[in-house]
Amino acid sequence: MEYPNAVNQHYGQADLAEKILTALQNIGKDVDNLTQDDLSPFDQFHSGGLAATMRLAQLVELHEGIELLDVGCGIGGPARILATEYGCHVTGIELTETFCHAAELLTARLGLSDKISFQHGNALDLPFENASFDLVWTQNVLMNIEDKKRLFGEMHRVLRPNGRLALFSLMQGPVPTLHYPVIWASSPDLAFLIPPDELRQLVIESGFREISWIEGLNAGSHSTALPVEKNGFAVGMDILVEKAFELKKANGKRNMEEKRTTYVTGVFERTDTYRDA
Ligand SMILES: C[S@@+](CC[C@H](N)C(=O)[O-])C[C@H]1O[C@@H](n2cnc3c(N)ncnc32)[C@H](O)[C@@H]1O
Repeated sequence: MEYPNAVNQHYGQADLAEKILTALQNIGKDVDNLTQDDLSPFDQFHSGGLAATMRLAQLVELHEGIELLDVGCGIGGPARILATEYGCHVTGIELTETFCHAAELLTARLGLSDKISFQHGNALDLPFENASFDLVWTQNVLMNIEDKKRLFGEMHRVLRPNGRLALFSLMQGPVPTLHYPVIWASSPDLAFLIPPDELRQLVIESGFREISWIEGLNAGSHSTALPVEKNGFAVGMDILVEKAFELKKANGKRNMEEKRTTYVTGVFERTDTYRDA
């Protein structure tokens, strides 16, 4: 199957945005007056949840008014936090069409569409001019992308000189095989984990200077937000995962415990040496 279709088939769900609104209504939320907190049980779609987002934000030293690109932005949870907590102008790019639609709808419902925009597209072919952003941000996306050289080339291209790259990702651990399915891949077809050292080298070779690099459990945690239960209904991360959520979650935990996976958090700066993707 063609790669974009494989990603859409893995993550996509028909009518996800409407499903989210119904689920929130079921637990008594007023969907015409949603808050960021209402979305917190599920909108940070990565290990470590909101804490991991805030930690990366502190590490990369965000400033008000910067132009930030969130690559593989999911349903826009990190984008909304970066816009409201730090005053960044955020553009999210996302390959899964139904995630992109949900990101737009939820952001509009929170009245944040003037600060954040979303585009449906592929990180390997970023639809932006050279030197458009001050910061490229990505959380738990790298493991779905095989051609990382091209990815970092694209990230380098759209960054302004001295712009920063902030990344957080699950990586290959010392034991190289995985238990499947996991939340981010049902089979090896969509799993492109590499060891942290290889990633670090690749980013540097792509024209970046390292500012911070944290490996292992200190770089992330396996916890995610807890579901919220009310009126006999529950809303949690499983809303983004159509099939076998509990098995995928358990396999993710097992992969980490058995050192099949690890985490990295890294901050880099674009060096002056410009290189076309
Ligand atoms: C585990 S989710 C993380 C979502 C978001 N970064 C977050 O932390 O909430 C991985 C996301 O990467 C997206 N993705 C995977 N490959 C991509 C690509 N080549 N271009 C853009 N998005 C991609 C998927 O559609 C999915 O939404």
